[in-house]
Formats: sequence, C-alpha cells, structure tokens
Amino acid sequence: MKPLRVGLIGYGFMGRAHSNAFKQVSQFFELKHRPVLKAVCARDAVKAKAFAQNWGYESIETDWRRLVERDDIDLIDIASPNNTHAEIAMAAAKAGKMILCEKPLAMNGPQGEKMVAAIARAGVPNMVWYNYRRIPAVTLAKQLIDEGRLGRIFHYRAKFLQDWTINPELPQGGAGLWRLDIKVAGSGVTGDLLAHCIDTALWLNGSIDTVTAMTETFVKERKHNLTGKVEKVGIDDASAFLARFSNGSLATFESTRYARGHKALYTFEINGEHGSLAWDLHDLHRIQCFEHKDEGRVRGWRNIHVTDSDQPYMKNWWVPGLAIGYEHSFVHQVADFIQGLDSGKPAAPSFKDALQTEYVTDAVLKSARTKRWEKVKKSK
Ligand SMILES: NC(=O)c1ccc[n+]([C@@H]2O[C@H](COP(=O)([O-])OP(=O)(O)OC[C@H]3O[C@@H](n4cnc5c(N)ncnc54)[C@H](O)[C@@H]3O)[C@@H](O)[C@H]2O)c1
Repeated sequence: MKPLRVGLIGYGFMGRAHSNAFKQVSQFFELKHRPVLKAVCARDAVKAKAFAQNWGYESIETDWRRLVERDDIDLIDIASPNNTHAEIAMAAAKAGKMILCEKPLAMNGPQGEKMVAAIARAGVPNMVWYNYRRIPAVTLAKQLIDEGRLGRIFHYRAKFLQDWTINPELPQGGAGLWRLDIKVAGSGVTGDLLAHCIDTALWLNGSIDTVTAMTETFVKERKHNLTGKVEKVGIDDASAFLARFSNGSLATFESTRYARGHKALYTFEINGEHGSLAWDLHDLHRIQCFEHKDEGRVRGWRNIHVTDSDQPYMKNWWVPGLAIGYEHSFVHQVADFIQGLDSGKPAAPSFKDALQTEYVTDAVLKSARTKRWEKVKKSK
C-alpha cells in the first residue's frame, strides 16, 4: 500500500470525525493507499500537540501556510471554519496537494468559482465532505431512484431542524460560536444545514432551476465574543424555500436553529409515480420505502434496516443486522476518495459539484432579499 500523507487543518468537531475516518479506513476497506497522519495544524500549539498525541499525528504546525509548503504532505484536509476554505484550498492546489475540503465549499458562489478554477489549473484530486451521501440508507435510496423504482418524481421534501441558538444571551463569534458570525460563516442555516439537504437533493433528484425563499433572524443583536461589543446578527436563523427541479418535480426545504426539541433532525421524503422513499437522520440506518406495485392486500411502507452485506458499504463492517453510525459516513467518504485515486475514476462530490450547491444557496439568500423567484446559476 502506498502512503497517503495527510495534513489536517482544524481539530474541532470535523477534525475529530476526519481523523477517525483516516485511522479506520485501511482496516475495513481494501485500498491501494493508506492514510498516514503526518501533521495537524491549529493556531494553539499546546492544544495542537494534545490533539496530535491523542490521534497519533506525527507532528504539528501552527500556521496552515507552513503545512501547505511541506514536501512530506500529499493531502491537505480542510476542517476549519467556512471563511478559511478558499485561501487554504487555493494555496494547497498551487502547491500540488490533493484536497479534501469541508462544506460549504465557499462563502458564496463567486468565491467557489475561484476555488474550482484553481483546482482545475492544478489538476489535483479533490472532494468536498458532503458525507450524508455515504450513509448506507441514503446511498441505497440513490440506487433505488437510479433503477427507476420511483418512476417520475413529483415531490422532494427536506428539513434540517435544530434548537441550539434560541437563547438570546448566547454570544456570537469565536471558538464554537463562529457559525453565528456572518463574517466567518458566510450565512446562517442556509449555508450550514440546508447545504447538506441541497447536496443530497441534487445527487438524488438532479438540478434545481428556480427557488423562492424566506429567511428570518429572530435574535437581531448578540454580544460578539471577540470584540466584547453587542453587534448586529447577520446570519439567517431560519430559512425555508420552494424549488422547481429540472425534472419537473416540486420541492420544499426548511431549516432552523429554533425548532425547540430538535437537535439534528435531517429528514427527506421523495414521492414518485410508482413509489416513495423517506429517511430520517435520527434513525439513519433505515430507509422507508413504499412501492405501489406490491399486492394491494399487503401494500404498505417497508422499513428497510440497511445492514445486510448486499446493501451499500455494509459488507465491510459487521454481520447482517448490526448497525453502524454517523462516523462511518466519513470512513466511507475517505474509502471512496482513495478508491477514486486507485482507479483513476474520481469520487464525487468534487469542488465543481459542490459549487452547484453554492449557486442554490446564493439564489435562496437572494430570493429572501428580493422576495421573488430566482433562477439558479448552473456550473459549466
Ligand atoms: N460534513 C459535516 O457534516 C459537517 C459538520 C460540522 C461542520 N462541518 C464543517 O466543517 C468545518 C469546521 O466545522 P467544525 O464544526 O469542525 O468547527 P469547530 O469550531 O469544531 O472546529 C474548527 C477548528 O478550526 C480551527 N481553526 C479556525 N481558524 C483556523 C485557522 N486560521 N488555522 C487553523 N485552524 C483554524 C479551530 O481552532 C478549530 O479547531 C466548517 O466548514 C463546517 O461547516 C461539516
């Protein structure tokens, strides 16, 4: 096996999820490259050292520029906040590194275009961590749709609901709360949560032509952790939009951090001419499936427990009936990325694929301002 020397940037939630995936993938998947945890980069040397020790990284850096310049790194993994993605990715591409980048790809479409151009110039392997595609039940949904089991699609319905920012005393900005700071996050739930729903939808149901949206910022001012001052809140706390897909289907998308009682309720349902599918992140190893062709007397929603060896990814894990979890979607993503390197057939979503999600979120935010239907730009 060839080594794939990883340099990770950011040791937060995603830094841990990615590190776990790099460590597990070679044990469970047969691949020609093996990730080697070469270096982790974070601005605080003490914390970076502790992280490196815990996860087995060989070294640390405190400036990502140093990491990108190192000759002993093959792949730069960007797991830092949204406003850092573009600069790091473009420097890494220039240095000829492979790049894995967290979502959303960029702060907006125009910035994403520059990143895609830099990647194209450098010709380096690249992928964006839209990991929900790789939950086996979601991958099975993709297979069933591609086989034509649902027939013509009429409806796509997605939600991503949380409740962690209801308290008006919660500050914005800084560690852990950068998602509330427009300058760092780029947008609120639209780019954070709906981006996941949009990526899955584009993958399962094709492109979106037009959208009409509404957004709201329920708490208008919050203390900023870095300035100590009460500042305007620039992010959208809630976002909902209607969409028309190119295949003629109609869609509704909704996301909020103000749905009391919900922590990470990502759900989607798709209704087609011959059948329907429904999925719920809280029960992530199951896909609900209805097929009209079933004999009438026993027709109904099937609750498929996606744990069998002929179901996506599952032959690599335990025995049929035993479930896997959230973290495995990241392992699958690394496995598919490496498989892409090994076979010369790159895995998706690439930077270019993820740019299309930026175009949808841009159109959603624009529509919320203009209060009109907006066309979604299409990536070339
Ligand atoms: N794929 C998913 O499901 C998923 C889930 C959560 C977050 N994300 C994305 O992952 C990224 C990180 O989110 P998170 O939840 O891990 O955030 P986090 O706050 O937990 O961690 C961010 C890390 O980046 C570091 N950092 C910030 N600026 C840096 C810089 N200039 N140089 C080096 N390190 C820097 C911070 O110190 C911290 O370690 C975001 O883009 C977010 O949208 C994706």
